[in-house]
Amino acid sequence: MVFSRRETLTLKLRHSENLLSCLLHITRKYKKIVVLSTLSQSSYGRYMAQSPPARTVPARLAWFLQEMPAFIIPLLLILTTHKSTIMGKYMLLGTFCVHYFQRTFVYSLLMRGKPFPLSVMVAAGLFCSLNGFLQGHYLLHCAQFDDEWFTGYCLLLFYIGMTINIHSDFILHNLRKPKEVIYKIPTGGLFEYVSGANYLGEIVEWFGYAVATWSFPALSFALFTLCFIGPRAYYHHRFYLEKFKDYPKFRKALVPFIF
Ligand SMILES: NC(=O)c1ccc[n+]([C@@H]2O[C@H](COP(=O)([O-])OP(=O)(O)OC[C@H]3O[C@@H](n4cnc5c(N)ncnc54)[C@H](OP(=O)(O)O)[C@@H]3O)[C@@H](O)[C@H]2O)c1
Repeated sequence: MVFSRRETLTLKLRHSENLLSCLLHITRKYKKIVVLSTLSQSSYGRYMAQSPPARTVPARLAWFLQEMPAFIIPLLLILTTHKSTIMGKYMLLGTFCVHYFQRTFVYSLLMRGKPFPLSVMVAAGLFCSLNGFLQGHYLLHCAQFDDEWFTGYCLLLFYIGMTINIHSDFILHNLRKPKEVIYKIPTGGLFEYVSGANYLGEIVEWFGYAVATWSFPALSFALFTLCFIGPRAYYHHRFYLEKFKDYPKFRKALVPFIF
């Protein structure tokens, strides 16, 4: 069937309207989960003692279960979607999967944290499922890129952030001896500059991803990350200042030399 230019334009406009209303619908649902997750963020880890939850799950199992959907769902979408000629889409979604592969199969196994509240684990698992679907569906089925489009250099920021995040989490994991639950002053890497070095890495990572994908869902996720772990970095910083009299005065909460 051959369409006139006017019909093509009308079809394109209708497609954009559908896409926009679909995105708005998803975002409304997403917002509720974002609000719920933000409210529950302070109730795990060191802040849990102030309001002990009824049921907990071992930390390793909780992180493994809650993060896994964000790896599995985009992977299933890649495997079941008809191959597009634009390799950049697969590269980008593959990058998203790399982060969650690390989080599910490496981070969770290395951690020595306190048991995790069941309710927070369920909320985080729901969030990861929805976010994994949203990022994958948008990239594979909605995003439009030029044929020559290449994302390699755009992803540099993402990988710099990921390196900072993994290195900082590694420092934190090694602060405790097996079975220890106390808190110590983290040193080395970006912890010399900020108390929330792992969070700084994660925020850089997802803003790098948003730039590379140039997509609304990725930007939403980057902003969510900032709103969720930005305040957490501030609370961690305050916790260290109150707990350790010899805490380095030069160190900031999240942004070196500034905040
Ligand atoms: N994208 C997002 O929205 C998002 C949201 C949340 C988390 N994350 C990422 O998930 C990872 C973990 O987050 P989190 O909030 O659990 O990080 P966290 O509060 O810094 O804790 C990380 C691990 O290190 C331990 N730990 C932290 N500080 C310590 C210290 N001073 N001494 C000894 N042990 C210490 C914690 O033990 P305890 O559990 O016993 O405190 C926990 O096992 C981070 O990489 C973060 O960026 C991402």
